[in-house]
Amino acid sequence: MPQLPDRRITHLLVTGGAGFIGANFVHRTRLTRPDVRITVLDAMTYAANPANLAGLTGVRLVEGDVCDAVLVEELVADLSAAAVGGSGDCGTAAVVHFAAESHNDNALRDPLRFVRTNTEGTGILADACVRHRIHLHHISTDEVFGDLPLDSHDRFTVETPYAPSSVYSASKAAADHLVRAFVRSHGLSATISNCSNNYGPRQHPEKFLPRQITALIDGETPRLYGAGDNVRDWIHVDDHNDAVWTILERGVAGETYLIGADGERTNRECVTALLELFGRDPEDVLHVTDRPGHDRRYAIDPSSMQALGWAPRFTDFSAGLEDTVQWYRDHRSWWEVSRKDAEEGYRDTEQVLG
Ligand SMILES: NC(=O)c1ccc[n+]([C@@H]2O[C@H](COP(=O)([O-])OP(=O)(O)OC[C@H]3O[C@@H](n4cnc5c(N)ncnc54)[C@H](O)[C@@H]3O)[C@@H](O)[C@H]2O)c1
Repeated sequence: MPQLPDRRITHLLVTGGAGFIGANFVHRTRLTRPDVRITVLDAMTYAANPANLAGLTGVRLVEGDVCDAVLVEELVADLSAAAVGGSGDCGTAAVVHFAAESHNDNALRDPLRFVRTNTEGTGILADACVRHRIHLHHISTDEVFGDLPLDSHDRFTVETPYAPSSVYSASKAAADHLVRAFVRSHGLSATISNCSNNYGPRQHPEKFLPRQITALIDGETPRLYGAGDNVRDWIHVDDHNDAVWTILERGVAGETYLIGADGERTNRECVTALLELFGRDPEDVLHVTDRPGHDRRYAIDPSSMQALGWAPRFTDFSAGLEDTVQWYRDHRSWWEVSRKDAEEGYRDTEQVLG
């Protein structure tokens, strides 16, 4: 096996650090690497929650758009200067790029917002990173590979061809291609990770699991797209973020890593597990009209991450789900307003089938 690098990162620019995965990344970093200085660039869209970063020390929040080339240039230049000032080496700094429009249902309503933020925003960031010789870690999704048949045991690997089905996944795929092109033609130092579906605290109630959890807390009935046969490969958000740190410290520049935790479950199985956790009848489900173009199954072969020595800690999905439910029970004020807004959006598009 080739010798793996062992980088020491001291300064980070984290885009999208006030959203679900990004905020959990910042919290996890404060816990596991308290000396790392973090600047968060976040446009504070509806998906961000100011409470996500409240009270954290050593974290600077800059409210701004990743498509604002002047601001991005300034922040990447500052990052480079801070790292060089501290160590004489800008290799101790990196950008971790989470910022994105992330919800497939919104991509059906307003696709061009996704093209702008996810694709153009990544290009602007990569361009600035080239100029300042800063490493970029680009956070992507397994959805770039399209979907797998329900009845197969195939899994996505680093060799799987891209075949995105939604404007969300196509805009992320375009961003991945841009990062690789900046590496090849402009000398960018970058790594990419494509992760499967995350669950855990601080996820917006528009998303599948928090939507069901918050409905159950409010005594309502969970909703399933169609029959609920679609399969997602669930990973706890802390496992995803620990994998990102593994890549930052030990990943090989130019490489792509697939992050997954062998967590395949049908949507129906997830809802049944939640109903049981709430002591409710496992059949008490409302079936609603399916999302157009809805991907059937995702599954990740995580061997590229295993080769770096990473393994998930949350191997018991039921226990991880129970912790997540408890977080939502304890943080009603965090989700109450956004749940109301999200449900208003669903009311226009969703029809109950039975
Ligand atoms: N959620 C998942 O299961 C999952 C799985 C794999 C990969 N990903 C990827 O992880 C990243 C984070 O996903 P998430 O679920 O935390 O999303 P999220 O929607 O919860 O958070 C996205 C954050 O980006 C910010 N943002 C949006 N547009 C911006 C812009 N123009 N400029 C600056 N900030 C902007 C938002 O305000 C928000 O804080 C995304 O790149 C997504 O594609 C997500």
